[in-house]
Amino acid sequence: MDPIGVIEVKRDGRELSTAQIAEIIEAFTAGDVAPEQMSSLLMAIVLNGMGRRETADWTAAMIDSGVRLDLGDLPTVDKHSTGGVGDKITLPLTPLVASYGLVVPQLSGRGLGHTGGTLDKLESIRGWRAELSVDEMTAQLRDVGAVICAATADLAPADRKLYALRDVTGTVASIPLIASSIMSKKIAEGTRALVLDVKSGSGAFLPSVDDARELARAMVSLGADAGVDTRALLTDMSTPLGRSAGNAVEVAESVEVLAGGGPSDVVELTLALAREMLDAGGLGDVDPAENLQNGRAMDKWRMMIAAQGGDPDAPLPDPRHVHEVRAGSDGVLVSLDALAVGHAAWRLGAGRSRPGEAVSYAAGVQWHVGIGERVRAGQTLFTLHADDASRFDAALDSLAEAAVIGDAVIGDAEPARRSL
Ligand code: URA
Repeated sequence: MDPIGVIEVKRDGRELSTAQIAEIIEAFTAGDVAPEQMSSLLMAIVLNGMGRRETADWTAAMIDSGVRLDLGDLPTVDKHSTGGVGDKITLPLTPLVASYGLVVPQLSGRGLGHTGGTLDKLESIRGWRAELSVDEMTAQLRDVGAVICAATADLAPADRKLYALRDVTGTVASIPLIASSIMSKKIAEGTRALVLDVKSGSGAFLPSVDDARELARAMVSLGADAGVDTRALLTDMSTPLGRSAGNAVEVAESVEVLAGGGPSDVVELTLALAREMLDAGGLGDVDPAENLQNGRAMDKWRMMIAAQGGDPDAPLPDPRHVHEVRAGSDGVLVSLDALAVGHAAWRLGAGRSRPGEAVSYAAGVQWHVGIGERVRAGQTLFTLHADDASRFDAALDSLAEAAVIGDAVIGDAEPARRSL
């Protein structure tokens, strides 16, 4: 293995061969390539890119670094979101799709920075367990048809190691590297079909819609090359989803959706993704709204939570401290910035600054007005939840410019814009 030769190929803007990619990923996973050499190669990839064949080879090498689950003849279909603020869609969507007989293996992650983590949210349910063995996971998929759990360490271990390095070397922002990182895990998990929710906007990983589209295209072609029926929806993340961001607050909102209610944007996105998943699973004629209304999706949720030791009837944790933010004037809510709301939830304790940190399950933000709705002076705009009251100041700083309230104007003028 000649890591310097491989680095020089990419430094000079040339293509890496299939063998070079396989060798360097294998050697790096085994600890035989120094982190500074891999960082240098990653930076050359960020700057000079990788073509479609190279990206497919990079993805295959990461899959080959670990095990590939065999879910046999189960009619599996999964979903992946590139992440956002208030994005709790996995929680209602997984049991909803499983309630139609498809099998949903949702291997999820924890939150880092301003985007929340599905496992952190679910751990606010008393007794619920994220870490399952492969045998437990496959048994639950056969019995219940749905699982949301942590990815096991032997699934694409090269990605785990590479991602940790990218995180501290400024080499996350590369479409081929992001696409291969996400798709290696999804292909290794053994799903037959995959629906991607690729977000753009201030609260998204890639704010530009053009970048999001390019990422979506790259992931769809990687999935297709690996024989996974892969589709992508491009969705907006300039405004946070629903009416809450945090842990327990997002579980509560998801349960409202499963009970047939909930915020309309969460319901719409859940149904749009469910339709694609059902179609990929051969059930294109089904209207997924039915099982939200008739209780079947809720029954599946309860089974899924109980199968992982959770008590679906247990009260969710209450925050020790609550702070309300009121509107200073009358008007209409013109915009609510997803990134600012995500930062506020994170600063309240819902997220972590470094891997492994504990999160507060009760922490989060609720907003009580939607875009385009009227606001009255003195009305509560936000409710902040925290276990540690000293966190409120930082969250309030994040929210200072988050909401823009415009005067309600009749006629041709633009609404006058002012923040809180
Ligand atoms: N999520 C991943 O799993 N990998 C990336 O590179 C970026 C986001």
